Amino acid sequence: MMGNLIVTTGTKSAPENIEIAERMARRLDVSYIARGRDSLASMKQKYKTAYVLVVRHGDLFLETPSGEFFFHPNMAHVRIKNLRQGKKDRFIEAAGIKMGMTVLDCTLGLGSDAIVASYVTGETGAVRGLEVSPVIAAVVAFGLKRMTTPNNVALAAMRRIQVIAADYKDFLCQQPDKSVDVIYFDPMFRRPLLDSVSLNPLRFLADSRPLSEDAVREAWRVARCRIVMKEARDSQEFSRLGFSVYEGGRYSRVGYGVVDLSSGK
Ligand SMILES: C[S@@+](CC[C@H](N)C(=O)[O-])C[C@H]1O[C@@H](n2cnc3c(N)ncnc32)[C@H](O)[C@@H]1O
Repeated sequence: MMGNLIVTTGTKSAPENIEIAERMARRLDVSYIARGRDSLASMKQKYKTAYVLVVRHGDLFLETPSGEFFFHPNMAHVRIKNLRQGKKDRFIEAAGIKMGMTVLDCTLGLGSDAIVASYVTGETGAVRGLEVSPVIAAVVAFGLKRMTTPNNVALAAMRRIQVIAADYKDFLCQQPDKSVDVIYFDPMFRRPLLDSVSLNPLRFLADSRPLSEDAVREAWRVARCRIVMKEARDSQEFSRLGFSVYEGGRYSRVGYGVVDLSSGK
């Protein structure tokens, strides 16, 4: 995971960007460094870090050794469009998510699955997303609140998501029994699909620990309907953690494991 982080702005920055950068630095408890005329390369050298959070045109861009990390809901848009055309979404099907449900996404990452879940649960439901990496949580929470798009339905879905910077293990322990309909885990795959381009910059920042039996046990206590896990389709993680593999997606390398609590399985 990452070392120290600094926050700055682009070279010609409006006061609004400086204000956002200072706010982010406070939130992440790291230093805000006025950009001046310095290049990012020289700032990295001077402050001995490979990670710089840059506020440009009111958006956040995190420089990492494996590329720039920023919030982009493109995949979620495509999936919402497909759902609106009556097509099915494998994650939504596997998780059994319906309008009005409450969903706890334990591994928010870029937020794509959470956005699609929020679209389906609608105004009468609720989606909370947990992310253990404070900087990922900050960038994604900021993007979800700030992103504008002509697609009002997707926008409303993004705005409704509540982002919490927390470890799911700690968070689950504090939740009452049977207090959430669906609990979802999408941990970093044990064997990454390296061509998953959108996740590449995330790899250095993300927590890659496997899902623990303890966390799954807590999820059993807290969930009412289903617990769902995403992994590579042939992953041993499903059987290790007691998930039944959800059929479908014959040509996909991704699989979903399900614990269906409503049917007593
Ligand atoms: C594969 S990504 C999730 C991608 C996400 N489903 C999406 O649609 O963009 C996994 C994320 O879970 C986070 N994570 C890993 N362990 C966690 C934990 N114990 N608590 C909260 N988040 C965790 C990682 O930091 C990473 O950002």
